[in-house]
Amino acid sequence: MEVLITQRKLTDSEITTLIHDGKFFPHVAYVSRSRWQSLSQPYIVEVDGVFAGVCAAYHFDKWIKLGPLEVLKLYHGKGVGKILLQKIVNDNKDLNIFIASSNPSVKHIIESFKFTPISNILSLPKEVKLFLLEKIFEHLSFNFFYEGLRKNFFLLRRDVKYYIKGPTNSKK
Ligand SMILES: CC(C)(COP(=O)(O)OP(=O)(O)OC[C@H]1O[C@@H](n2cnc3c(N)ncnc32)[C@H](O)[C@@H]1OP(=O)(O)O)[C@@H](O)C(=O)NCCC(=O)NCCS
Repeated sequence: MEVLITQRKLTDSEITTLIHDGKFFPHVAYVSRSRWQSLSQPYIVEVDGVFAGVCAAYHFDKWIKLGPLEVLKLYHGKGVGKILLQKIVNDNKDLNIFIASSNPSVKHIIESFKFTPISNILSLPKEVKLFLLEKIFEHLSFNFFYEGLRKNFFLLRRDVKYYIKGPTNSKK
């Protein structure tokens, strides 16, 4: 299995596949086509030359926020998600990294990278809270709520955990 990770825009057909698969993933919020299209340099993973998933990386201040993160169903449990996240963490050693997830696989992977878990959203650094607040207003839509209710998403999200990691390259 050859895994290649690059940063580029998603194609329309990749977005269609992500939206299709995303309908069946309980831990993923509704991501609109326009939101996928708006990502300028998401991390794209290909397996043996075929599109297999994506992770967005939003930059703000000295931070990046990871997600939405989706590996296509066909590739789950093969180590693809871990390779993708490891690459992003390696590429961004100079920055603070933030990720939130209710997915047990993501929590397992992220904990293996020694991120610090934060259980209460209010305890997150101020810059992260402000960024999340700004994004909430951008993403709210009828479909966001409809899909959330359909997936029982809001119930699952009770298990959401927040993780942060400081820069590992900085000289102290
Ligand atoms: C979550 C996701 C990105 C993980 O990618 P993946 O390629 O399936 O994950 P990997 O195979 O690389 O690794 C999964 C790890 O989680 C572990 N794992 C799997 N199920 C688990 C569970 N229920 N509890 C704890 N750990 C679990 C696996 O053992 C593996 O760890 P290991 O490498 O130490 O053995 C992918 O499954 C996905 O896209 N899911 C749907 C969308 C989603 O929920 N996205 C996350 C939103 S934040």
